[in-house]
Amino acid sequence: MKNLLSFRFLFTLLLMAFTFSAMTQTKIVVHADQPGAKIDKAIYGHFAEHLGHCIYGGIYVGDKSDIPNDRGFRSDVVKALKDLSVPLVRWPGGCFADTYHWKDGIGPKSQRPSIVNVHWGGVTEDNSFGTHEFLDFCELIGADAYVNLNVGSGTVQEASEWVEYVTSSNESPMTNLRKKNGREKPWNVKYWAVGNETWGCGGNMRPEYYADLYRNYASFMRAPGIYKIASGANVEDYHWTEVMMREATRMMNGLSVHYYTVPFNWGNKGSATDFNELVWFTTLQKTLKMDTLVTRHSAIMDKYDPKKRVGLLVDEWGTWYNVEPGTNPGFLFQQNTLRDALVAGINLNIFNNHADRVRMSNIAQMINVLQSVILTKDKEMVLTPTYYVFKLYKVHQDATMLPVEVKCNQYTLENQSLDAVNCSASTKNGVVSMTLCNLDPNKSQQVSFDLPGSNLTKVSAKVVTAGKINAYNDFGKKAEVTEADFKDLKIVNGKIDAVLPSKSVVLIQVQ
Ligand code: AHR
Repeated sequence: MKNLLSFRFLFTLLLMAFTFSAMTQTKIVVHADQPGAKIDKAIYGHFAEHLGHCIYGGIYVGDKSDIPNDRGFRSDVVKALKDLSVPLVRWPGGCFADTYHWKDGIGPKSQRPSIVNVHWGGVTEDNSFGTHEFLDFCELIGADAYVNLNVGSGTVQEASEWVEYVTSSNESPMTNLRKKNGREKPWNVKYWAVGNETWGCGGNMRPEYYADLYRNYASFMRAPGIYKIASGANVEDYHWTEVMMREATRMMNGLSVHYYTVPFNWGNKGSATDFNELVWFTTLQKTLKMDTLVTRHSAIMDKYDPKKRVGLLVDEWGTWYNVEPGTNPGFLFQQNTLRDALVAGINLNIFNNHADRVRMSNIAQMINVLQSVILTKDKEMVLTPTYYVFKLYKVHQDATMLPVEVKCNQYTLENQSLDAVNCSASTKNGVVSMTLCNLDPNKSQQVSFDLPGSNLTKVSAKVVTAGKINAYNDFGKKAEVTEADFKDLKIVNGKIDAVLPSKSVVLIQVQ
C-alpha cells in the first residue's frame, strides 16, 4: 500500500513537471531596444459600402427616424465608433463605387434620383446618404475619409470634379455648387482611390490596361497633398502588383490588395456560428495566409520602390460566411463569434508587424455586412467580438512598432499544426503594448516575455475570450464575448510571466 502511494505521488509529480514544461515553451522577446516603423493609425480603418444595412439602418436612419439620431446618424452607433477611435472610413464601395455617380447624391434630398443597387440585392438606392452625409459622418466620429472614385462606369471628368467639389477652396463651378449645397469650406479628404477591384466588378480589366487608365485618372485628380490609391491585386495575383508597380509607381501613393477569409469555398462559405473545431482551425489557418500575401506583394513593391514610399493598403479584409438564414443573400449579413475575434487579432498583428509597408487596412465591413464591429436590428445594437478586439488594439494607432520574436507551442489538429501564439508589439508615450492571440481552443499558453530596452515597473492587461469557440453576442441577450481585465500575469526577475487562456486575444501593457 505504501509503495502504491509513493508511486502515485511520483507519478503526479512527473505529470506536473511534464505539464509545466509543455506550458513553459512560449518565449517572446519584444525588442523595445529596436524600434521599427510607425504603425499608421489608418491600419485600424473601416470600410462602409452601400450594401445591405451598412449605411441605411446601420449608420444612417434619417432625421425623421424614431431611433435617436444626430442629423440622421444613429446616436448609439456614433458613440460606439467614437469609443473605438475609428481613424478612417472607406466609402462608397466596393463594387458599388464603380456604379456610383456622385452628383446623384448631392443637393436637396427630394430632388436626388433613385437608382438600382445592381450589385447588392437590386434594391432601391435613394441617394439620401451622399457626399455631404458621408463627410459629416466622418467629422462626427472623428475619422478621416477615404473616397473611392468610379472608374468602371464613370469618367475622368466626373472623378476630377468630385475631387474638386470636395477639396478645392478656389472659385469654380464645382466649388460654387458645393457652397450652394450648404458647405462653404472644403473638406480635408486625403485618401482617394481610382476604382475598386478593377480586375473584377470594377471593370474586368487587365493590369496592363488599368495601369494606363490609372495614370490618366491620377493626372486629373488635382488637389495638393492628396494620397492617390491604385486598385490592387486579388489575393495572390502577384502579376497585378508587378505590372502596376512597373508602370505607375511614380503616380501613386498607395496600392491596394483584397483578401477575405472564407472557411470553405465561394459556393459554400460555411456558417458564421455553427462550426466545429476543424472549421475553427481551417479558418485561422486561412487567415494566416495574409502574412504570406503581404510579404510577397511587399517584396515586389520593394523592387520598384526600395524606399517604401508607396503604401500597401489592405483596403478589404475579414471573414466571409454564408448569410444568416432568412436574410437577403445580397445583403451579406453574418453573425460574428469568438472565431472572428481571433481572425481580427491575427490580421491586425500581421499588419502591425509589416508597418514599414502596410499603411492602411479596412475591415469589411463596419456595420451589418461581413465581419462587422457592430450589428443593428431596428432600435437595437450589438457590439461584436471583433469590436472588442479593435478596442484592445487601438493602443497601436500611430505607435512605433517593436519587432517580436516568438518561440511557441504548436496547435495541432488532425496532423496539421499552427503556431499557437501570434503577437505584435508597439510603444507610445513610454508604454509598451503587446497584443497576443492564443489560437488553441483547448490549451492555455504559459508565456515568458523578455523586453530588452524596457524598464518594467507596472503591468496591466485585458482579454477577449469566452467559454465556446462559437460564442457570440445577440440582440436582446446578455453579451457572451466582451473585454475583461486580465490578471493572470506578473513581473518576475525583470520578465513578465503570463498564462494566456485558450482561444483568447490579450493586450498586455507595461511601463
Ligand atoms: O465587401 C463586399 C465586396 O467584396 C466589395 O463590394 C467588393 O469590393 C469585394 O468583392
